[in-house]
Amino acid sequence: MSESRLAIVGATGAVGREALAILAQRGFAAQRVLALASPNSDGAVLAYGSGHVTVRTFDAESLGRCEAAVFCADAAVAREHAPPAAEAGVFVIDNSSAFRMAPGIPLVVPEINGRVLEGDPPPRLIANPNCSTIIMLLGLEPLRRRFGVREVVVSTYQAVSGAGLAGMRELDEQVSAFAGGEPIRPRVFPQQCAFNVFTHESPMETATGLNGEETKMIAETRKIWGDPQVDVLPTCVRVPVRRAHSQSILVRLGRPVSEAQVRDSLVSAAGVRVVDDRRGGRFPTPLDASGIDDVLVGRVRLATAGPDGRSDRVMLWVCGDQLRKGAALNALQIADRVAPALGLGLADVRSPGSGVSFSF
Ligand SMILES: NC(=O)c1ccc[n+]([C@@H]2O[C@H](COP(=O)([O-])OP(=O)(O)OC[C@H]3O[C@@H](n4cnc5c(N)ncnc54)[C@H](OP(=O)(O)O)[C@@H]3O)[C@@H](O)[C@H]2O)c1
Repeated sequence: MSESRLAIVGATGAVGREALAILAQRGFAAQRVLALASPNSDGAVLAYGSGHVTVRTFDAESLGRCEAAVFCADAAVAREHAPPAAEAGVFVIDNSSAFRMAPGIPLVVPEINGRVLEGDPPPRLIANPNCSTIIMLLGLEPLRRRFGVREVVVSTYQAVSGAGLAGMRELDEQVSAFAGGEPIRPRVFPQQCAFNVFTHESPMETATGLNGEETKMIAETRKIWGDPQVDVLPTCVRVPVRRAHSQSILVRLGRPVSEAQVRDSLVSAAGVRVVDDRRGGRFPTPLDASGIDDVLVGRVRLATAGPDGRSDRVMLWVCGDQLRKGAALNALQIADRVAPALGLGLADVRSPGSGVSFSF
């Protein structure tokens, strides 16, 4: 019997390439990977560890011999192809927004609500959450589990690669144009992204004033936590960073806590690494978060502690690689759980207490 295969649909994009990098790092054999993309990329050769994979055109038949497929293309491709593939027996994990809020389709961060994957039979079509939502919730989950969460006020500082490879290229081109004294002409983003900061470019709802990214963070948080009451108040912004999103978070917990309790919860949490060196001035940065599995959490503070040194409001600074844990890694962890025959060895990616850096 041939070994089960895994398709990466959209293998040439920012998320698809990251998925290939993770698989190669974990020693998943190149022959078991099916790299698929649009007809424009047919025959393209992509690095895969020390070897390579050749990209083939994706069509309805291409998933035939695959046990699982991670869709890293846009929502239109997912809407057309993911449901029939799932019906034909392939485990499909979709990175787009197509199915995230669809009733009956699980929206999963394995460290938080991975239990929804344990149904018998397991779900065949699973949605991967929005990258900003995943990064925020990983930092907050240890606090929610112990103390409960009532309200989250979050400001994001989002990397340009959140808009795909084209977004990253746009920043590089604008920086070069600026250095060469040439005019800067935005194409991917509505505004200049080099040396600028602007409201997330997703469409804004005029009635509420929320942009699409903010709406996703609110709705997806409620679905993943199964808590329709939790208040999420986001402001989503692009910054001229190539990769990894940062977030300033103020969370109101279910009860007053001490700073030590907060730290204690964070250091033992799966997928979280605390970097909070007040003396040495070392805190999470998007550069440090790039290319690693963990979300970095620092600047841990209580807001106006009472005489007992406790507060129900906690402030955090979080940085996470949105291409990795915010997309490709999370999707592969899900694939690993639902299709154990793949043997990716990703289900238990966790780093309790690893790399903790405290100093007061
Ligand atoms: N970037 C992020 O930080 C991030 C985070 C979370 C979720 N996501 C979601 O992940 C998905 C991919 O995002 P990305 O940033 O990787 O975008 P990207 O860099 O623009 O890549 C898009 C990929 O889709 C492929 N594609 C386009 N049309 C296709 C078709 N008809 N059939 C098969 N493949 C097709 C492209 O192939 P060609 O190269 O051949 O055109 C490319 O591989 C999107 O749904 C996005 O919303 C992105």
